[in-house]
Amino acid sequence: MQTSSIPGGAAVAAGNGLEAFVRELPKAELHLHIEGTLEPELMFRLAERNGVSLPHASVDALRAAYQFNDLQSFLDLYYAGTQVLRTEHDFHELARAYLRRARADGVVHAEIMFDPQAHTSRGVAMETVFAGLAGALRDARERHGLTSVLILSFLRHLPEADALATLEAALPLREQYGDLWIAVGLDSSEVGHPPGKFERLYERCRALGFRPVAHAGEEGPPSYVRDALDLLKAERIDHGVRSEEDPALMQRLIDEGIPLTVCPLSNLRLRVVDDLARHNAARLLRRGAVVTLNSDDPAYFGGYIADNYIQCAHKLGLARHELVTLARNSFKASFLPDEQKQAWLDRLESRYGQ
Ligand code: ADE
Ligand code: ZN
Repeated sequence: MQTSSIPGGAAVAAGNGLEAFVRELPKAELHLHIEGTLEPELMFRLAERNGVSLPHASVDALRAAYQFNDLQSFLDLYYAGTQVLRTEHDFHELARAYLRRARADGVVHAEIMFDPQAHTSRGVAMETVFAGLAGALRDARERHGLTSVLILSFLRHLPEADALATLEAALPLREQYGDLWIAVGLDSSEVGHPPGKFERLYERCRALGFRPVAHAGEEGPPSYVRDALDLLKAERIDHGVRSEEDPALMQRLIDEGIPLTVCPLSNLRLRVVDDLARHNAARLLRRGAVVTLNSDDPAYFGGYIADNYIQCAHKLGLARHELVTLARNSFKASFLPDEQKQAWLDRLESRYGQ
């Protein structure tokens, strides 16, 4: 049994079958960019199939290049990687591979972000992206009962007009994919692109019935989190870890139960934190914030969702009951219909108590 002497930590979850415990724990993944699940092996295979030349000579050379200084240094490689995605089959394979991997980590429901502007700007049709992703999502539901939905995410480094045009281009597809596409998000380079830039876009999305989420407080200041809530009416904040720098804002997030979809391994690899042991996920959870753990871009950050749970258990001294709370939060914060949400919460209660 591994032990840990984290101050104030309850019984530490490390050791004694922690990995199996985490992988068997039913959970929802709420912060996952499908383009960030493109493993180097698949990237090379798709590059070859589509006649795309890659700047790195091999899978190993590419992996070795995954050393990031900040969000932008990662995004540069992430967008370069998307160039191999051309056909419906490519998007289907990408999503199928992720869902298979997620299932092995105990994910029973996934809310998956995708960045259409990264594809349509290269001449890929919106329909190609939707059809490929939707095919894989529907297969996973039929074959394995793994439910999932899509969060169409807008690139905040581009003008609002570009996002509005993207929304209009996608809307005709809602008839075919409206069961999956239920939410919108905001991602890409945060600093210098505050939520206020997208107020009209979000107003239109909300009027259309989409659930709004937004990245905020990853690299950007707490004011971006406040603006995401007040100007965009975001129901969940993706990351939000910098909210703690503003005590009044942090208290508001706790009081109003606004979920934070936290991605610890991402924060470590993008140097939002310099040491996982100093990540604030456990502290925020223990203060009563609706924290969830997620994988963000697992192909680039060295771990999928279970790795995030396991490494946080080790480094932050999370007890097993806290891991269960994280899983419970993931369902509470999800966009699942109330009945399904309650069914998963009941399942957690009957299996793990509390
Ligand atoms: N797009 C993909 N991953 C992202 C992240 N961590 N932050 C902002 N935009 C992203
Ligand atoms: Zn993200």
